[in-house]
Parts: sequence; structure tokens; C-alpha cells
Amino acid sequence: MNSILLASLLPVSLVLVSLVYLQARSAKQRRVALQSLSLPPSTKAFAFFHPYCDAGGGGERVLWSAIAYIQRTHPDLLCVVYTGDTAATKTSILEKVQSRFAINLSPATLHFVFLTKRVFIEDSTYPRLTLIGQSLGSVVLVAEALSLFVPDAYIDTMGYAFTLPIVRLLGIPAGAYVHYPTISPPMIARVASRSTSYANAQAISRSRVLSTMKLAYYHAFMLLYALALRRAGVLMVNSSWTRNHVARVLAYGTLGRWGVVRPRVVYPSCDTREMARLPLEGRARVVISIAQFRPEKNHAAQVRALHALLEAHPAYKAEGIELVLIGGCRNAEDKARVEGLRALARELGVESHVQFVLNAPYPDVLAWLGRASIGLNTMVDEHFGINVVEFMAAGVIPIADASGGPLEDIILPVEGEITGYHAMTPETFAAAIHTALTLSSAEDLAIRQRARTRAVQEFSEAKFEAAWEASGWATLLA
Ligand SMILES: *[C@@H]1O[C@H](CO)[C@@H](O)[C@H](O)[C@H]1NC(C)=O
Repeated sequence: MNSILLASLLPVSLVLVSLVYLQARSAKQRRVALQSLSLPPSTKAFAFFHPYCDAGGGGERVLWSAIAYIQRTHPDLLCVVYTGDTAATKTSILEKVQSRFAINLSPATLHFVFLTKRVFIEDSTYPRLTLIGQSLGSVVLVAEALSLFVPDAYIDTMGYAFTLPIVRLLGIPAGAYVHYPTISPPMIARVASRSTSYANAQAISRSRVLSTMKLAYYHAFMLLYALALRRAGVLMVNSSWTRNHVARVLAYGTLGRWGVVRPRVVYPSCDTREMARLPLEGRARVVISIAQFRPEKNHAAQVRALHALLEAHPAYKAEGIELVLIGGCRNAEDKARVEGLRALARELGVESHVQFVLNAPYPDVLAWLGRASIGLNTMVDEHFGINVVEFMAAGVIPIADASGGPLEDIILPVEGEITGYHAMTPETFAAAIHTALTLSSAEDLAIRQRARTRAVQEFSEAKFEAAWEASGWATLLA
């Protein structure tokens, strides 16, 4: 009995002692950092865990927008970024933020803590059991982070939820901005259905054991993920899709809903400045689509919609209508899909109305956005659909599958008036195209104007800042 007690006390006290040691060590580093920035020792520090902060992607735009906002509204606060970009410097990072995002950050209240153990969270480090490997790796990385700097509040902006319990263990309030759930019940359901549909008679018993083990692993992992996420005092998500998935994670198992923080949608801002300058009038009878040639984008439905339109309204054949499929074509599979689409257009007898624009440079895409009347998005359950926001900002009337982001977040009415259309089948897409092409010129202009207004305002920097503020981030510091 005594030896069991001793055996369990030993690791616990080891952890506690090392935490106290780390905290003492980093408190010193913190004083040094504040001194080097000539900030008073009482300055509060708000830390962002963003190990790939120099990557220049959409996740980084959120990080820098948030920091710029905090610097403007809380000039007394020190923002700290934990990053693993050891090849970069504070100056080089700030320059890149300026050139890439046109965001100006003040070096006076920004401090970078460079982490050397980022290899622990890299995909390539874990050929197997990647989920659990990276999660444990993030615990190592956040331990390094806290040993270098103890902040007054902490937010993970890169999806490392397992860092939250560690930070909370030190008594530091913590939050998270989630772009994409690490795992969620619908994802597990998809894995489960795939393994049953692929099971064949011969391999059935073997694969059943394996897939049961795999599912058990996913469920166990999701439970841990749910427990970790529940340590967040403030929880932001980048879209309704992410909110729905995160909410299901939080309610997972028998955990119930007690004491769970509600995830709040804070849309990242989209840079729509150039699109919003395109003229709304004088559009050609051109229907465009902008999407990489990947299977889930469902381009075939666009060709079929054109066919359905020409069947229902043969007059377009003489009057002229064009479907222009614009998109990235990166590899052999993409190329094969484009060939398949050309074949489909020939088979349906619409090839003279279909054009492909592959890997076009941005100015060309912008020119199409300025010419087209209508933009299509046929993907089912698109998580967000930035291309739809871009259509709207450009004054292109959007017609999108009635699901996912375009349905829940983007093509929503403004003051009760529509900003675009939703459809589900080639026939309903065709009907929506016909409706949009036969609007009176006053209605046509009004829809384009409303769609632009919604896209530019709803996904603007100002909206992002207002939503960030409403998330209650500042309560973490109180
Ligand atoms: C949310 O983040 C995911 C992952 O980076 C991304 O695919 C999605 O487009 C983002 N949503 C928005 C609204 O930016």
C-alpha cells in the first residue's frame, strides 16, 4: 500500500518540482525581456502559441490581425509569440507581415520567444500514430515555451489543444482559436463507414480487428481532445462548420455540457480590396467557377448544369453563353480530371460553350472576375468557400451548393434581400443561372451591389476585430 502510494507520488512531485523550477527560470527571462523593451516590470503579457508564425498563410493572417488589434487597443499590453521559426528574426518576421499582409505591427510591445524543439510537432517525426505523437509533441514544445517565458494569459492559435491543460496547470488562463478540429465525431463516422464499405469477404476478419482497433484509438483520442479543449476559457472558431464540429467534440461521450465554454465564430478577414474595385455593370454572359481540379469540387456538376440550361432554354445556344472553369491543375490526377471534364462536355454536346483556364496568374483571374455575370461553387459541404466571398466582392452573382459555408456563412440575405442563389442538382443550378441571367437590369445591379456589400463588410478587418473583442479574450487577463 505504502509503496504504491510512494510510486504514484514520486512522478507527481517530480512534475510539480519541475513546474516550479521552470516558472522561476522563466520569470527571470521575462524580467529581461521587459527590460530590453523598456517596459515597466508590471506590464502584462498575452502570449500566442503559433509555432509556424512565419508561414504567411491564412492562419497567420488571423494571428497578426489579432495582434495588430490588441496593440492598437491595449498599448500597455505586451504581446508574445512563441514560434519555432528559429531561422527568422523579429525584424524579418515583421517585414514579412508588412509585405505579405499589409499589417503594421509595433515592435515596441511585441516579443518573440524562439522555440528549438519544433521537430516534436512535425508530421514527418511521426510516420505512425501521428495524432497522438504530435499532441504529446506539443506538450513538450509548450513546456519549452513556458520555461522561456511565463505569460499572464495564453492563447493557442494553431490547433494545439493539448497545450491548454499544461498552461492551466501553471495557473495561467488559456484560450484557443480553432481553424480546424484535430478530430471530430463526423470524421470518425466517415472512417468507420469507409472501413466497412472496403471490407471484402477474404480480409473481413483481419480488417475487422484492425479497423475496430483504429476506431478505438480515434475515440480515445477524441475523448482526450475534448478534455483538453475544455480547458479553454475562451474558444473561437473560424467558421460555422468548425463551430459545429468543435461543439460536437465538446459534448463528446458522457461529458455532458456542464461548464463548457461556447465556441464563437470569428471569421478571418478576407482581402477583397482589388475585387471590390471591379465595375458592377457591363458584365458578359459568362459563368465562371474558380476551384482547383480536385474531385470534391464536383466540376462535372457544372458541365451538367450548363447542359441542363441549354436543354431547357435552347435560345442560349444562338445568343451565346460561356462556362469558364478556372483553377489550379497541379498534378497528373488533376490533369486527368480536366481531360475527363472535356470528354464529358463533348459527350453532352456543350464543348463549344466550355473553356478551361488552368493555373492562371492572379491578374488573369481578376480579369475574369470583372467580366463574368455568375460564379458557381458545386462542392457539397464546403467548409467555408473563400471563392464565393471573392465572387461576391467582385460583383459576380454566386450560385452555390446548398450546404456548408456558402449556405451557413456566406450567401445570406442583407435586410431580407438575397445576395445570390443556392442549388443542389444540375437542373436547379441551371434554373438559378437562368433566373440570374434574366433579372431586370435594376434587380441585377441591386443583387451585385448587395453581394459586394455583404462580402466586403462581413469578412472585413473591422468585423474580425469586433468579433475578436466580443469573444471575451480580455477576460483571460482579468
Ligand atoms: C478555417 O481554417 C481551415 C483550416 O486552415 C480552412 O480550410 C478554412 O478555409 C478556414 N475558414 C475560414 C472561414 O477561413
